[in-house]
Amino acid sequence: MNISCLPLNGTDYVEFYVGNAKQAAHFYQSAFGFQPVAYAGLETGLRDKSSYVLRQGKLTLVLTAALSKDGEIADHQKLHGDGVKVIALAVDDAKSVYEETIKRGAVSEFEPREESDEYGKVVLSAIKTFGETIHIFVERKDYIGPFLPGFITWNPAYKPKDTGLLYVDHIVGNVNWNEMDRTARFYQDVFGFTQLISFDDNDISTEFTALKSKVMSNDNFKVKFPINEPAKGLMKSQIEEYLDFYYGSGPQHVAMATENIIETIADLRARGVEFLHVPDSYYNSILDRVGEIEEDIEVLKKHRILVDRDDQGYLLQLFTKPVQDRPTFFFEIIQRKGARSFGKGNFKALFESIELEQRSRGTL
Ligand code: FE2
Repeated sequence: MNISCLPLNGTDYVEFYVGNAKQAAHFYQSAFGFQPVAYAGLETGLRDKSSYVLRQGKLTLVLTAALSKDGEIADHQKLHGDGVKVIALAVDDAKSVYEETIKRGAVSEFEPREESDEYGKVVLSAIKTFGETIHIFVERKDYIGPFLPGFITWNPAYKPKDTGLLYVDHIVGNVNWNEMDRTARFYQDVFGFTQLISFDDNDISTEFTALKSKVMSNDNFKVKFPINEPAKGLMKSQIEEYLDFYYGSGPQHVAMATENIIETIADLRARGVEFLHVPDSYYNSILDRVGEIEEDIEVLKKHRILVDRDDQGYLLQLFTKPVQDRPTFFFEIIQRKGARSFGKGNFKALFESIELEQRSRGTL
């Protein structure tokens, strides 16, 4: 049976629940060059939370912290540490998309509701996905405010310049043992996504650790969710380490696209963003593996940028270290030059690098 794909216009925003939204906002401004957009908190009449909205290109991040000791945000932060709670998706009709997902078996987070202020109205609805993560469907065609109703413009004097980040390329979920197939099926049955690629432990393993992955995508390729689960290896894989520290399934990384990865990475490094270490040896045989590329290998080596090729072109990518205390969520920086894949050829080098990090954390 062919289920029609939900009409999605892309990622609307990604919301993190964090311990201290004010300080996190400063980090995303200073380290990643996100621009201040909107704010809601005590000053806007909220009593239970404060949220900072930042944007760069089409990437919108919301950082939310609890102002009370109890409640959903405080509980989430206590259990998972800082992490992604909401992957919001832009739609033209939040009511019909919601109704369709419920008909197809999704579990409701909240029913369609209209919210409005002097800038117009939005319609929001939400369903649950893996772990405690939710998808909010955002219909904002009748809204001209800075973010959503209730938010005011946040316009501080401090505005470090951007780093060339443009949009969400994909968002990866880590799920528990034996949950990958069920989660992939959820995106197939409820969202009408198709599976682009699947990897098993034969593809993605080192001497010590392994994982499995299925990449689910919508019909216009604007929304892509690779889903990972751990696989048995001699030692504990990075996915298990994530699950241990996050206390369950959750978003592992957001891949952010740039049109000039060399400048973006150089800029991010200068601002103190930490990346996974790529060994010198990675560059020894790289041209044999990926063939002709436009970039100078010496320049890529200098910035420790990874390259991979598929049958449609190549891609350049690099992964940050975790961006909070727990070894859970991180970011990927990616520049696509035709390739539609996710850097499978880099997995082994990458995992060996992550194993070094795990060893230093005592979690291998
Ligand atoms: Fe990725």
